[in-house]
Amino acid sequence: AGPLTLSADSGKMAIFGDRSVPVRLYNSQSGGRNYQNPVLKISKDLSCDVTFRNNLDQPTTVHWHGLLVPGSVDGSPLNPVAPGASYSYKFSVNNRGGTYWYHPHPHMHTAEQTFAGLSSFFIVEDAHDLALRQAMNLTLGDTELPLLIQDRRCNEEGELDYSPDDMEKMMGYFGNVMLVNFTPNPALDVDTRFYRFRVLNGSSIRTYKLAFENNGNPLKFHVVGTDGGLLDKPYEVPDVYLAAAERVDIVLDLRSARPGDVILLKSLAFDPKDTHMPSPAFGTSLKPGEAFTLMKLVVRNLVDAGGALPATLSSLPALPSASDKIRTLQPARNASGDWVMKIDGVDTLYDMNDFPIVVKKNAVEFWDFKIGSAGMPHPIHLHGFLFRVLSRTGTPPEVAAQSVDASGRMVTDLGFKDTVLVWPGETVRVAIDFHHCFGAEEHYMVHCHVLEHEDMGLMTNVKVI
Ligand code: C2O
Ligand code: CU
Repeated sequence: AGPLTLSADSGKMAIFGDRSVPVRLYNSQSGGRNYQNPVLKISKDLSCDVTFRNNLDQPTTVHWHGLLVPGSVDGSPLNPVAPGASYSYKFSVNNRGGTYWYHPHPHMHTAEQTFAGLSSFFIVEDAHDLALRQAMNLTLGDTELPLLIQDRRCNEEGELDYSPDDMEKMMGYFGNVMLVNFTPNPALDVDTRFYRFRVLNGSSIRTYKLAFENNGNPLKFHVVGTDGGLLDKPYEVPDVYLAAAERVDIVLDLRSARPGDVILLKSLAFDPKDTHMPSPAFGTSLKPGEAFTLMKLVVRNLVDAGGALPATLSSLPALPSASDKIRTLQPARNASGDWVMKIDGVDTLYDMNDFPIVVKKNAVEFWDFKIGSAGMPHPIHLHGFLFRVLSRTGTPPEVAAQSVDASGRMVTDLGFKDTVLVWPGETVRVAIDFHHCFGAEEHYMVHCHVLEHEDMGLMTNVKVI
């Protein structure tokens, strides 16, 4: 809660073996120690006071992804921090407890800076969150673990390699190695008890279909939270999609596991639709939509840690039933091939100075995020507000198989969201309550969180007056 310094720096890190390779990282000093990419943790309603310094050779920002903050401290490209300059991010934490995150968001350089290593967690705690931790006897950093999942392209020298060709600049950049918390092939010793994983997809474009298996057999788990904190209750699932920038809060019950069991966190195979396949130089593994292992858990000790998964986790407000306005937003390519957001049918090229969407403070709006049937999935993210998913229609059958209600929603649609994956052919209707207590005029944006799409302008400014 106290004042904090944070800088974005060029540095080195040993990711593959002992050799240090160039990266970009956030650093923070506290109590005589330096923390790289610190996991920030704060209680709801406290104020967060970060003095940020940009030591990179490019403009950057710190975007507090998912936080309900005034536009001036949101860290969007509208408020860049020049090389060598500092910026004061001071805000009160209005969010529900949940797994949020921070990452750079400068105009046209978000993908390369994030790829180079800049991103970490911003965990907000509230009474519900603490109650869950207590009920399950969890310890943050030990049995409750934030997991940052990223695919990264790596060259023969073992260096991170961000060199998209023209097609990849347009369509998205896939990695050929998987990292969890910057670690390749991660393995963790576990005991026979509950674990909680707060999973963040920090990839540029890759979607995962997360699942566990024990000695080769599928192992169901519970989804307890989404982008904006805990669900009303735990939902048991065999697997869950997690698109770029989304978070899912998972409880894994290993009480009936046996010492020696090997549990794998995997991404299952799925149809990536018209996602662009990387060129042959990319290699043959980790193709989009292909199955692979993310992390290995090895069961060591039989323990009786006690605890139980509560039947009730939090209370979610009823879904808004009426709106002041309905808008349609559709990622599309215009006649010259550029990414545009089609807003109510009109191709809208991104312009930093233009605010195509003007919303009245306190309005409740329904937005339809839509993708044509020939296309690729896009994860759409709104700054400054969380939203609720009302319905999914036109969902591809294999995805619709996961729906849990008559509106076509999936488990991960049931809570508060700031990013939602829209599949080809789909219309995802969300409700946004533009109630806030900030200035008379606040500036935000809505965009695709495929970082290359974002840099190429698949983005629109939003003004709240
Ligand atoms: Cu996480 Cu506008 O981004
Ligand atoms: Cu996109």
